[in-house]
This record gives sequence, structure tokens and C-alpha cells, in this order.
Amino acid sequence: MKTRTGINGLRSVDFGVPDLEAAARFYEDIWGLKAVSTTADRVYLRGTGPDFYILALHRHPEPRMLRIDLSIESRRHADTLHAQLVRAGLDVVMEPGTIADPGGGYGFSFRDPVEGRVFRVIADAARHADTADQADLPRKLSHIVLNSPDREARFFVEQLGFRVIDKTRTITFLNCNDDHHSLALYTSEVSSFNHLAFEMRDLNSVMSATANMVEHGEEIGWGVGRHGPCDNVFCYFIGPGGFTIEYTAEVEQVDETYKVGGPEDWKFRRGRRDQWGLALPSPRMRSADTEVPFSSALIGQ
Ligand SMILES: [Fe+2]
Repeated sequence: MKTRTGINGLRSVDFGVPDLEAAARFYEDIWGLKAVSTTADRVYLRGTGPDFYILALHRHPEPRMLRIDLSIESRRHADTLHAQLVRAGLDVVMEPGTIADPGGGYGFSFRDPVEGRVFRVIADAARHADTADQADLPRKLSHIVLNSPDREARFFVEQLGFRVIDKTRTITFLNCNDDHHSLALYTSEVSSFNHLAFEMRDLNSVMSATANMVEHGEEIGWGVGRHGPCDNVFCYFIGPGGFTIEYTAEVEQVDETYKVGGPEDWKFRRGRRDQWGLALPSPRMRSADTEVPFSSALIGQ
């Protein structure tokens, strides 16, 4: 499915972490990403898919959510969206132009005025040619979930063109392509990062990668389970800096015929939070998913 603005995916995310070297080692040696570029203060990591990088780690005094990069269909769409956001009074951080990060492309960045989150829109970034799926390794970003008081997701629907594709008692799911959702808002009084999901090729890879994490001494935050909405399998962990991260697979593919659900459509048997009911979120995970705020400082570009 296409959006009216041309936004068509979650490309990458920027995390600020106090111990850059330890975080980079974790994502490379255990989580399953690969560094494509490293500077003194940044490490850019790719999955097995075509996106040039999907996670950028920045040396930062405190763990912070720094920026969310969204892909957009073309330069023309980027310029049109930029003009529309300027008219709406958004704070443009970088005017449309060439992106200096690895993979380049054309885009702009802005801060939404209500919750202070920084987004960047990118067209025409370089893409990798070696994109064969590999067992147990993340392919791409699946979705990001943000804590937000904006239950109606007005900013994302009205300004960025996302569609509300499902709503549970606590979460509003937002769609911008054939994946059920690329972004979701967890209803909350605070505005902050909730979690970031990495897509694996299949359920076996979620299970094997989960076992690999456990073998490395990492504690499961929640899982393994199967969500609804989206029908995806999941397993959550707390990564370096306290960022909640998720392995996922079997993300439901949707088209115009998808029936948008509401809270009454998504109820589980008493005591369960997912379709399988194997586990509930750990106390550590329940606190971690509201601990990382957005940065008030900018990272350039
Ligand atoms: Fe998720």
C-alpha cells in the first residue's frame, strides 16, 4: 500500500549510547548486524537486506533516542512534503539536500513541535546488492514503537500520511507499506522510545537468534510469542544503554482489503498478552520500555 506523501518505510534509527565500543560489539558480535562505516564517535550497522545501514550508534553521555529515518519514494515527494511541513509550522532541522551519512541520498530533517522527536526523510539512498537472507541474522528494521500521549496519532496521520491500521487498548499501529505496521504509538503520559524491532527471515531464525542471545548471557525480556495485531512472532531483549530491542518474523502483509481493527477485536484469554501465552514481559522490560527519552540536542544533518 502507498501513502499520499510517498513515505514508504522505516529506513534506520539513531541511538545515543554512553559506551559506543561496547554497544557496537554487542550489535555486531551477538545481535547479528554488520558495521559498514565507523568514525571516532559513530558506528553504522547494516542488516542482510538492501538498506545501506539500519542502525547508527552515536557516542552520547546518556542513552537517548536521537532520530528516526523514514524512506520516501522520490526527491519530488521529499520536496513536496518539506513544503507542506513548513506550512504546518514544523521546525526544519536540515533543509532538503544531500545526506552526508553513509549511503547518502537526498532528504531533510525536522523536529515535531509537540513531542520534540527528530525525523529525517530520505530518497535515493544507496542500496546494497548482496541481499540474500541469512539464517539467524536481521534483514531490516521492521518497526519502531514510541511512547506517546497522541492516541489518535494525529501527527503521523495528518502530517506524514501514515494510516491507522489497528488499535488495541494501549497501542495505535501505523502503516505506510505492505507490512502491517512500520511505526506504532504506545499510549503513555510521557513521550519516549519504547522499542525497535528487527525482522528475521522466519520463525526458526527468531528462535535460533534468541538461543544465541541466551547463550551469551542475555536475559529474555518477553517471549517467544506471537502478537495480534500483525500476527508476527517476537522475542524482546534489553540492549546496551537500556534500549528494548525485538527479533520478529512473519509480519502480516496487508492491502486495501485489510479490515482495520479496534480494541474489541484484540482481546486475549485472561492473563495472556499474546496469542501463545508462553510468557509475560519481565519486570525489567516493563520499566525499560519507558526509560529512554528523546534527545533535546541535535546530531547535525
Ligand atoms: Fe514490536
